[in-house]
Amino acid sequence: MKIAFVGCGYVFDIYMRTRWAHPELEVCGVFDIDAARLSTVSRHYGFDVYPSYDALLADPAVQIVVNLTSIRAHYLTIRRALEAGKHVYSEKVLTTDLDQTRELFAIAESRGLVLTGAPCNLYCDAVSTMWKAVRDGAIGKPLLVYAELDDNPAHLMELEKVQSPTGAPFPYAEEFQEGCTVEHVAYHLVWICAMFGPVTSVTAFSKALVEHKTDTPLSPSDTPDFSVGCLDFENGAAARITCSWVAPRDHRLRIIGEQGEICADNAFHDQAPVHLERFSRVSLSARKAYTVRTQPLIGRIFGIGGRRLPLVRRWKSHAVEAERGVGHSLKHRFVSWLRRREVYAQDKLLGIAEMTRAIDEHRPQPMPADFLIHLNELTLLIQRAGTTGIAMKPQTTFTRFEPLTDVATSPRDYRTSYRPHFFERLLAGTMVALHKR
Ligand SMILES: NC(=O)c1ccc[n+]([C@@H]2O[C@H](COP(=O)([O-])OP(=O)(O)OC[C@H]3O[C@@H](n4cnc5c(N)ncnc54)[C@H](O)[C@@H]3O)[C@@H](O)[C@H]2O)c1
Repeated sequence: MKIAFVGCGYVFDIYMRTRWAHPELEVCGVFDIDAARLSTVSRHYGFDVYPSYDALLADPAVQIVVNLTSIRAHYLTIRRALEAGKHVYSEKVLTTDLDQTRELFAIAESRGLVLTGAPCNLYCDAVSTMWKAVRDGAIGKPLLVYAELDDNPAHLMELEKVQSPTGAPFPYAEEFQEGCTVEHVAYHLVWICAMFGPVTSVTAFSKALVEHKTDTPLSPSDTPDFSVGCLDFENGAAARITCSWVAPRDHRLRIIGEQGEICADNAFHDQAPVHLERFSRVSLSARKAYTVRTQPLIGRIFGIGGRRLPLVRRWKSHAVEAERGVGHSLKHRFVSWLRRREVYAQDKLLGIAEMTRAIDEHRPQPMPADFLIHLNELTLLIQRAGTTGIAMKPQTTFTRFEPLTDVATSPRDYRTSYRPHFFERLLAGTMVALHKR
């Protein structure tokens, strides 16, 4: 498939990190309204540059426009691409106006085009593993999700000094103006809604807590930097999602079922370790003890945290296991290795790869339009809840869908392959005795 990028800012370099693993995506060229940025990107990656967006859209070779522009430019950029007959893959959030989002999908449908977009962590190994384990019944009936997206106290992080490997400044002003919820909550909504279905009620709270995040004037200056959304799902499950630029970093994903818990440590790491704990009287009671709770190695003996699951491997799993072509210096390579190992690793091209694979195989898109519209609405409901938030009923819904076939049919059964820890089994009787007079 032939693709072209519009918008070559900070996130563009993240897309480029895994390009080596996607030879099927042929880049025809790039365009950005910032000429300096365009020439840097062209020099660094060797891409052809279009003189204008019109020129990009007029190129008959381009089949997919990948929109990485700033959020405020999304609506027009996407609309023009669709009107020019191109499929579109867009960064999130598609737009910050539900009617505009609906309009874009209506244009795409009327022209037989695909409109889809980020986040694509739904397809990554860690989320695929969690989804397969839930479907295997590893935690019994899933009941509750706790999802965190605290991204550190932004005002202390000197974000003004953060740059991508080719020197694009981190767009901190835009991030503050759009807000942590609009920027981040979809990383959780995408997997939670895919697994549990449509949301029938949202009770949310959002507030701007840190008054002064930067000396740069912001407009608006009071976008919430904290939100919590409680979601009621049609299937009976519930979720609580927290986003902030106030609390220290915590990107955990947890699914609690009647029989156990599945958790992953990092929503921003495609291969984050996934742990399954099947609850036992031992592991649940041991948590009451301070030392057991606060010393992970001791906790493990009692079954707290369960077992690390072998990850489902997908067709592009290798993409985040190496990086070629973004930075060449020793420092770049060291930082890249450290980041992939410890901090985050995302294959942002995976969404485009899954999109093109579905087009090539004449299959429906793995993320249907009604699903993406629903995520868009939920994002805006949570962001705009304010401090007097009450339960809100979303106007939108979607038809539930299955995981991709290779995930659904992965041969490993996470329920039957689970073994409790030795001590957990040994202490089962003792725990009963300790709870008696
Ligand atoms: N920064 C991140 O870590 C990150 C991560 C994931 C997703 N995103 C999303 O990616 C998108 C881009 O974010 P970013 O961080 O790269 O922002 P950025 O400001 O660094 O880059 C945006 C680029 O788009 C260009 N641009 C703006 N309007 C344009 C237009 N009309 N035509 C052509 N080019 C235009 C700008 O000149 C700029 O180079 C946003 O939707 C954001 O939410 C960002």
